Amino acid sequence: MAHILLRHRDIPNLHKLSVYQAHDGYAAWQKVLTEYEPQQVINVVRDSNLRGRGGAGFPTGVKWGFIPKAPGDKYVVINTDESETGTFKDRELVEKNPHQVIEGALIAAYAIGAKTIFNYFRGEYMDAAYAFEEALQEAYAAGLIGKDILGSGFSCDFYCHYGAGAYICGEETALIKSLEGELGQPWSKPPFPAIEGLYRKPTVVNNTETLANVPPIILNGADWYKSMGTERSTGVKIVCMSGHVEKPGNYEVEMGTTYRQLLDMAGGMRGGKKFKALLPSGGSGPVITEEALDAPMTYEGLDAHQSVMGSASVIVMDEDTDMVWAALKMAHFFKHESCGKCTPCREGTFWMEKALHRIYHGHGTEKDLQTLESVAKQVGGKTLCALGEFAINPVLSTIRHFPQEYRAKLQRNGA
Ligand SMILES: Cc1cc2nc3c(=O)[nH]c(=O)nc-3n(C[C@H](O)[C@H](O)[C@H](O)COP(=O)(O)O)c2cc1C
Ligand code: SF4
Repeated sequence: MAHILLRHRDIPNLHKLSVYQAHDGYAAWQKVLTEYEPQQVINVVRDSNLRGRGGAGFPTGVKWGFIPKAPGDKYVVINTDESETGTFKDRELVEKNPHQVIEGALIAAYAIGAKTIFNYFRGEYMDAAYAFEEALQEAYAAGLIGKDILGSGFSCDFYCHYGAGAYICGEETALIKSLEGELGQPWSKPPFPAIEGLYRKPTVVNNTETLANVPPIILNGADWYKSMGTERSTGVKIVCMSGHVEKPGNYEVEMGTTYRQLLDMAGGMRGGKKFKALLPSGGSGPVITEEALDAPMTYEGLDAHQSVMGSASVIVMDEDTDMVWAALKMAHFFKHESCGKCTPCREGTFWMEKALHRIYHGHGTEKDLQTLESVAKQVGGKTLCALGEFAINPVLSTIRHFPQEYRAKLQRNGA
C-alpha cells in the first residue's frame, strides 16, 4: 500500500514545495479556500472519525467543533513536543514531509477561524525544525500562508517555537504555558483550551500526525478514510517500533493491524531471541505479554489486556530483559520529568523510583514491594495531569505480569 503520511518514502524530495505540489500538495488547501465553509471542513473531519494521534484519541472534528464561532483571536497549536519514550514519528513527518503538516494546520485554522498557528517543537529536534522552517518559508513565498491567501481573503501566520526539553510540555496545557513564556506546568481543566487556551483565547492543540491526516481526508473524503482501519479506530497510524527487533523504525499501517504483525514487519526479534513483553505506548502504558500479541492495534484493542495503544510507540523486549530493571528505568524517567506541581505525582514518582532502586539492587524487602504497590495505587487517579497515571503503569503492570522477577530479587536479599 502506498503511504498516506510517510509519502516521502515513495516520492523523493517531497519536502520541496514544487515536488509536494506536483503530488496533490496544497490541493486540499485550495479546495477548502474556494469550495468550503469552515463548518463543512469540520463536518468532513468529524465524519472521517479521525482521532487524535497524540495518545488520547479524542475525535479531531469534535474538538474543532468546540471552538466558539464568534469572531476574535483563536489559535491552532501543533504539538511536536514528542518526548514520549520510544516515539519518533512526528520528527520524521516535520523533517521529511513538512508541507503535509503545514497544510493540515492551515486547514484546521480555516475551520476554526484562527489567524495564527504555532508549531511547538521538542527542543532537541533542531535539525527537523530547520527543515520545517525552510518548508514554511517556501510556502510563505508561494502565498500559501500569510495575508489574503491565494486571493481568498483569509489570512494566517505561522510561527515555530522550541521547547527546552521537558516531557511535560507535551501535555497541552503545560505546552500552552511554555509557549506563553511561563513555567511549563499543566493547569487543572476546566477551562479547556478550546475555550481558554493560548493567551486565554480559544485554542486547538493537535498532534503533528493528526494534522498530517487532514489534507488527504479533505481530498479523498470521509468515506475513503473510514474504509481503512476499524469502525471506531479509522484510517492509518504511524507506529514507532524500537527495542529488541531486527528493523526498528517507523511503520505506517492501517489501524487494526495486530501487534504480532507489527513485530513481523519490524523483522522479528533481534538475533532470534524469544519475545518477552512489549510496551505498546512507550513507558507510559502498561506492558503486555505474548497473550496480547494478536490484539488489534486500535484505541480499544488492548482494553481486555488492561493496556492502551497511546501514541503507538512500541518498545519490544526479549527474553533477556530484566523487567524490574525496565520498571526502574521508566520510574526514573517519570521522577525526572514530573513537574512537581501536585503532591501525589511529585512524591509518588520519587518513592516509586526509590523502592524500585532498592529492589533491583538486591536491598529490597517485602515491605519495599508493598510500599511500591501502595504508593502506585495512591498516585492513580489523584493527579492533576495524566503523567501521574503514566508513571504507575509500568510499575503495576510489571508487578502483575512478572511477580516472580520481583520475588526473585527479594529472595536474593533473604526477605
Ligand atoms: C505528560 C504528557 C505528555 C504528552 N506529550 C505529548 C506529545 O509529546 N505530543 C502530543 O501530541 N501529545 C502529547 N500529549 C497529549 C496532549 O496533552 C494532547 O492530548 C494532544 O496534543 C492533543 O492532540 P490530538 O488530539 O491531535 O492527539 C501528552 C500528554 C501528557 C499528559
Ligand atoms: S501529575 Fe505530575 S506532571 Fe502532572 S501536574 Fe502533577 S506533578 Fe506535574
